[in-house]
Amino acid sequence: MVAQQEPRLVDHTAVHTRAVAFSCGQSCCVGHVWTALPRRSLPARWVRDPHQLSISDMVLVRNSQDAPPRDVVEVVGVTKVHPGGVRALDGVTVGFGQGSFTAVMGPSGSGKSTLLHCAAGLDRPTSGQVVLAGQDIGALREPKLTAVRRAHVGFVFQSFNLVDSLSVWDNVLLPQQLAGARPDRSWAKELLARVGLAGREKARPGELSGGQQQRVALARALAGRPEVIFGDEPTGALDLSTGREVLGLLRRFVDELGATVVMVTHDPAAAGWADRVVFLADGRIADDMAAPTAEKVATRMMELTR
Ligand SMILES: Nc1ncnc2c1ncn2[C@@H]1O[C@H](COP(=O)(O)OP(=O)(O)OP(=O)(O)O)[C@@H](O)[C@H]1O
Ligand SMILES: [Mg+2]
Repeated sequence: MVAQQEPRLVDHTAVHTRAVAFSCGQSCCVGHVWTALPRRSLPARWVRDPHQLSISDMVLVRNSQDAPPRDVVEVVGVTKVHPGGVRALDGVTVGFGQGSFTAVMGPSGSGKSTLLHCAAGLDRPTSGQVVLAGQDIGALREPKLTAVRRAHVGFVFQSFNLVDSLSVWDNVLLPQQLAGARPDRSWAKELLARVGLAGREKARPGELSGGQQQRVALARALAGRPEVIFGDEPTGALDLSTGREVLGLLRRFVDELGATVVMVTHDPAAAGWADRVVFLADGRIADDMAAPTAEKVATRMMELTR
């Protein structure tokens, strides 16, 4: 790893663009930088050899003081009326900043999953706008929308959505293969180990418990090192210690790689790992809490479900 030099080389505008670390899976470095910035505004040594990037470089990009972190996901006045006339979202406006960890909470049926699906481009709002990684995704046709999703988003579904006919290993690598990217096998292996599934690579989802399937879904969402990770109750089926492991992993994605995590949960303790909690009730934002603690969140949830 190269020693830190030229500590202010990164232009502050970097914060407004995409600057994400991707581990190359080799021991020589933490990662590569992929950025929308022109090459000339990057430190020469990054351009020369992106393998020489250290984690402090990323922290430097994220902590540039004069510019606020941009919203990687912007949901503006979104309404979603499901078939049958259910108004699941009713004029929701919320942004999720780069390098932030947000928990989304609210009573059952309040619109949490619908919000995540609309924000991730998996479902189209009835009205309103969603901007994902700088693109107004409402304006995109399906193939382009799929490409944007694959490039920027990892999603852990409430119902896991694993492919039953594929092994755990193939499920984890599938999104990268579909995107035409070369899968990072050593990273996939490390992720499976971190979620406690080392040695289960050959198993089929049907041979695993619900909690194990959820962990495969999480490893699959993280395998491509997405810029934004949406998790719909990603710890819902896990025991306490595995749940903590998963939350710690998500936290590290935010703190060390500058990823943005948006996680639906019913668990105040899980929400305590986030930087912020957005509360939904009847398809509307009911509250937006900074620096949540399990106690504060539990009290607010009780008030909302009363
Ligand atoms: N595909 C659909 N067709 C019709 N109605 C739907 C559909 N999906 C969701 N809904 C309705 O929209 C409302 C919001 O659903 P959503 O799944 O977003 O809630 P949620 O907050 O995620 O709930 P939970 O905590 O139970 O997962 C509910 O009334 C639900 O019945
Ligand atoms: Mg839901």
